[in-house]
Amino acid sequence: MNAKVNGIQMAYTDEGAGRTLLLVHGFPLNRHAWSPQVAAFRKDFRVVAPDLRGLGESEGTAGAVAMVRYAEDLQALMVYLGTGPVILAGHSMGGYVALAFARAFPQALRGLVLVGTRAGADAPAAAAARRASAEQVRADGCAGLVAAMAAKMLSPGHADPAMAAAVRGFMTPSRPEGVIAALLGMAERPDAGGWLGQIRVPTLVVAGAEDTIIAPAESESLAKAIPGAQLKLVPQAGHLVAFEQAEAFNAALGTWLELSMA
Ligand code: MLT
Repeated sequence: MNAKVNGIQMAYTDEGAGRTLLLVHGFPLNRHAWSPQVAAFRKDFRVVAPDLRGLGESEGTAGAVAMVRYAEDLQALMVYLGTGPVILAGHSMGGYVALAFARAFPQALRGLVLVGTRAGADAPAAAAARRASAEQVRADGCAGLVAAMAAKMLSPGHADPAMAAAVRGFMTPSRPEGVIAALLGMAERPDAGGWLGQIRVPTLVVAGAEDTIIAPAESESLAKAIPGAQLKLVPQAGHLVAFEQAEAFNAALGTWLELSMA
């Protein structure tokens, strides 16, 4: 599906009925990375999964996109769809966006699920590497970045070629303009650590125990800093934990939804 929201044509999946679970993908992925969750939760929830501005099939804009801008897009999509407050799940960069959303629109939130993500800003060297990567994408296109990122999304021991191909498939629709905008936006994102104590909704933090992009220790710190948050580390899973170990992830999310969001 497709709608004009917040000045861009936004692509999204919208399935099921009931309370809304809003799923926000990471970088440089698209909404289909959440397909096992859409399939599992649409029987009990309205599951909405957009492609973020400039990624997947959503229209992009030139220049850096701040995490709060993506959050404003989500809020505009919620208004367009008439969802009311949502349970918001964000993976990695989607988690940076979810934290920006929680800060900007606390009244629009029922619950928060932070997956393979962190609250801290980039250290200067990491921000510089992102800007260099943006320059490379500007010069050569996305193929190099996609190959490098795709190789790190699953756990190091993961040998299923079909799953690795699916992960590359989640990245290939993203175009240089959107990838550059996200890289520059992530490089300039503020540190969200200082206000985590103000989060007032039930929160679940999930990480793949073998995540080599964002260390599980970051998730442990997040869970400690958010009042009442629960932490789940999923074994034999890398950065894209919800896809790689979908059954274990869905079981953890389902239990938490049942106990915390009833
Ligand atoms: C992501 O998966 O969204 C990215 O790896 C996040 C990041 O690069 O910080």
